[in-house]
Amino acid sequence: MYGSENNREDSERTAFRRAEKKYKLYYDNNASSKNKKKKQPKPVDLTEVLDFRSILECHLQNGALPPGVIVLHDKFTSPVFSLQNHPGFYFIPGALTVEKQCSLIRESLVDFPQPPNRTNHNAMYGPIKDVFVAAKEGRVLVEDNSDSVITSSGVGADIDHGGCKGWVFASEKDASLRKCRSVSASALLRKLRWSTLGLQFDWSKRNYDESLPHNRIPESLCELAKQLAKPALLAGVEFRPEGAIVNYFGLGDTLGGHLDDMEADWSKPIVSLSLGCKAIFLLGGKSREDTPHAMFLRSGDVVLMAGDARECFHGVPRIFTDKENAEIGHLETLLTHEDDLCFLKYIQNSRININIRQVF
Ligand code: OGA
Ligand code: MN
Repeated sequence: MYGSENNREDSERTAFRRAEKKYKLYYDNNASSKNKKKKQPKPVDLTEVLDFRSILECHLQNGALPPGVIVLHDKFTSPVFSLQNHPGFYFIPGALTVEKQCSLIRESLVDFPQPPNRTNHNAMYGPIKDVFVAAKEGRVLVEDNSDSVITSSGVGADIDHGGCKGWVFASEKDASLRKCRSVSASALLRKLRWSTLGLQFDWSKRNYDESLPHNRIPESLCELAKQLAKPALLAGVEFRPEGAIVNYFGLGDTLGGHLDDMEADWSKPIVSLSLGCKAIFLLGGKSREDTPHAMFLRSGDVVLMAGDARECFHGVPRIFTDKENAEIGHLETLLTHEDDLCFLKYIQNSRININIRQVF
């Protein structure tokens, strides 16, 4: 699934890989000497990227649709679009209110990465609690390899043993007194790439590991996913959210072309929510040789992939964090309270994707 980079030589020859390279962030090496310090992103041709927001605007104005795009459910909360040659693929532009986007951003940073939910940091540090708060407070994760408590000037009191056995958060001052490995919480936050909710996905075995301790997907997210899944379900068929993967993207981060094929029932949709900076999403065909469609994903957009579309390669080759292209002005307007500034700072350079699945 996510191991697409392994077969680099082969994949470079495929249409999907060529599209990934077309949109990926590259920097101009021969920028003028004045700009030497600030690397300039290479310009990329976006003329072929489908823009469902402007498609929606046109459609609402005069019912027009570009070739290959169809409207499926005009009576859902907002129009649901699909692509003629991609049955089972649904795009709902702006499906999430700004308030919902903000609360999901807060939850994705504060609550979703909490144990027993696993994150990419588990392999290295074991379960870590409260990374976001620790980053806000400028704390440092230190390897706690001695039983002795540091007591000079009361620094021992500052150690929080709520993290894993072995690694604990300490103040910056404590960390500098300890002669052990350390990493700042803000670096951990910056390098947070995924967390898993509900049934835990084991990335090394590429399956859901029912033996891993887990909580159910939070009720409000579960209800939201059930509601959003409806356009992809026949009347009376239920969608049971059992697992979710939260992806965190910083500038330059990508999600390589893959299939989500570890769930039992492919007729059930994957409900995929976009938050924060705008991204390019590639939807290919069942072979990596099929040329993918590129489309923008903005904060608040929802994508459903069910049935045939579950068998289609897809990925995210690019996010945009510059002011003009990130298109998060609506979030900046809402996240103005002092308590929200930390979320705003994060999301101004990041994208979060929550994708919710029925596993069995
Ligand atoms: C995934 C996925 C798409 C996105 O996590 O499986 O396809 O929009 N994410 O980030
Ligand atoms: Mn996927």
